[in-house]
Amino acid sequence: MRVNEPQRSRACAGLHGRVVEIGFGSGLNVPFYPAAVESISAVEPADLGWKLARKRLDRATVPIERAGLDGQSLPFADNTFDSALSTWTMCTIPDVATALAEVRRVLVPGGTLHFVEHGLAPDAKVQAWQHRLNPIEKAIAGGCNLDRDIRGLVQAAGFEISDLDVFYGEGPKFLAALTLGVAVSP
Ligand SMILES: C[S@@+](CC[C@H](N)C(=O)[O-])C[C@H]1O[C@@H](n2cnc3c(N)ncnc32)[C@H](O)[C@@H]1O
Repeated sequence: MRVNEPQRSRACAGLHGRVVEIGFGSGLNVPFYPAAVESISAVEPADLGWKLARKRLDRATVPIERAGLDGQSLPFADNTFDSALSTWTMCTIPDVATALAEVRRVLVPGGTLHFVEHGLAPDAKVQAWQHRLNPIEKAIAGGCNLDRDIRGLVQAAGFEISDLDVFYGEGPKFLAALTLGVAVSP
């Protein structure tokens, strides 16, 4: 099993109906979509990611279309989706608060946002390293932030968290502090 696959599987559990995935990347979540998913609208700015997704797209059992390019401005009507998915993406979107507001707007009331993200660690010592290293990470890793408070951001966007696990995955703690959960759009 590849690194992070258990977390992908957990984050995808419970997705259903029409789903928007922000930061689709190379489609590493495709094998984990549950049978209850009817379609995926993928939002991904990088052409390379979409290209690398080809094999997984070919094997997918649900329709997947690249339907948008920027999570900060979703080209969908209000109340379009039953679920949303974001994995290792909230670190990179420049204005993640706006992206989360957009996700809320396009979810139906009661719709769920499923996420697993790296971000602010639970321990002060690790947090201090994350703040220190953040400018370097941003510069060398395509705008990725180490120290975003994922739970706080999701709550500030008006979601109600129904399920949350904060833990360390594999790798150095400053990079592997994960927040995995489900949040409901009221
Ligand atoms: C670390 S990668 C994660 C990719 C994928 N979600 C995964 O789990 O493997 C971050 C992704 O966020 C995408 N991204 C960056 N800015 C974005 C934006 N404004 N809107 C949507 N996705 C964005 C990147 O192109 C990249 O695919």
